[in-house]
Amino acid sequence: MSVGLILGIESSCDETAAAVVERGARTLSSVVASQIATHARYGGVVPELASREHLRAIVPVVRAALAQANVTLGDLDAIAVTSGPGLAGALLVGITYAKALAFASGLPLIAVNHLEGHIHAVLLNDRSLPGSLGDGQGLPEDEAALALVVSGGHTHLYLAKPADGCWSYTLVGRTLDDAAGEAYDKVAKLLGFGYPGGPWIDALALHGNPRAVPFAFSQIKTKLHLAGKAPRTKAARTAPIANLDSRFLFSFSGIKTAVLRYVELHNLRPEAEARREALFTGPDAPARPTIEAALATCDPQTLDLIASFQHAVVGDLMKKTFAAAESLGARRILVTGGVAANRELRQRFTVEGVARGLRIAFPTLALSTDNAAMIAAAAWPRLLVRDFADGSLSADPSLALGNARG
Ligand code: KG4
Ligand code: ZN
Repeated sequence: MSVGLILGIESSCDETAAAVVERGARTLSSVVASQIATHARYGGVVPELASREHLRAIVPVVRAALAQANVTLGDLDAIAVTSGPGLAGALLVGITYAKALAFASGLPLIAVNHLEGHIHAVLLNDRSLPGSLGDGQGLPEDEAALALVVSGGHTHLYLAKPADGCWSYTLVGRTLDDAAGEAYDKVAKLLGFGYPGGPWIDALALHGNPRAVPFAFSQIKTKLHLAGKAPRTKAARTAPIANLDSRFLFSFSGIKTAVLRYVELHNLRPEAEARREALFTGPDAPARPTIEAALATCDPQTLDLIASFQHAVVGDLMKKTFAAAESLGARRILVTGGVAANRELRQRFTVEGVARGLRIAFPTLALSTDNAAMIAAAAWPRLLVRDFADGSLSADPSLALGNARG
């Protein structure tokens, strides 16, 4: 093996990304072309538009990643690409281009699960720290980490175990309906903010009272909820059906409805519509609305609602993640995915980790949301064991990660 340079390509949702990473640890370049401007006015990702934008961006993004890393295809050891889960048409753009590059250059192709990529975003960061668990070396085989992948498409808990430099994953919890990021996006849309909603709520929550509205999460009864069938939601389809411990299950559709009720009851809709027009859709809307501009459109009641929503969501994520870590004997917690960029979440998880003597690790902020450095990092252990994809590689929109705990 030469230097261990991998080109990662990611196109599973609404970011076209490419990166060059050395030995799963050193990021030489990470280029992300966001489609936020395309989807913002629709309040969510429009799959057909996403594929079209990926087609436009993929070649310049990959070229930029190689140029910024100061390498050519000939310097690389492998090409890694996200094969799922995600939007079928979007995934196919990255896969087709990665295959063409691999074929033309004779380089091996490595298929990466997007969720494993998110976990490796933490490991990539962590490899540079003392006591690193990134390469799985020096850790006893039974020293597992608990990983919370919390994004727009997922809220999943995995037990991750190092095994011979690779990692194995066991699903221990998940959402039964919406992902946490989806709840952020829906609540933001309801209140007249743009897509993605997380960053707006994150910033505005600082200005409200988190205890003003007492949102509550009730205990989930698995059997009742599932009635023996697989839940039919985007998030849940990516995980196998299993008898997961109901203490580690999430549900975010209830709080979304509770926010909707609050908005109706307090007649906040006209204000939200006015905000949407002033900041995003109206003829005088700014090209890039700022947090200050958004803040000026919010009365104290809306800010309290936003702060209370976030406080409740973060509280629920914490409660179940720490309960799972403790119950499964994991001494380390990895929190990753777009929602892991959230300030309150980082702060409260860190404080709780100190209190309980558990080590909490996050990706850098830039690697919390979708990127390709995490895909190249996840491919590194696979390159070492020569786990390569062949020409038949195709998109798997509901690709699951690991096994479920039975
Ligand atoms: O990981 P990601 O980029 O894409 C998916 O794989 O879904 O996550 C995007 C999600 C969106 O729902 C977005 O609203 C949320 O992450 N998000 C945040 C923050 N930044 C992004 N949620 C809360 N606070 C943030 N700062
Ligand atoms: Zn993601």
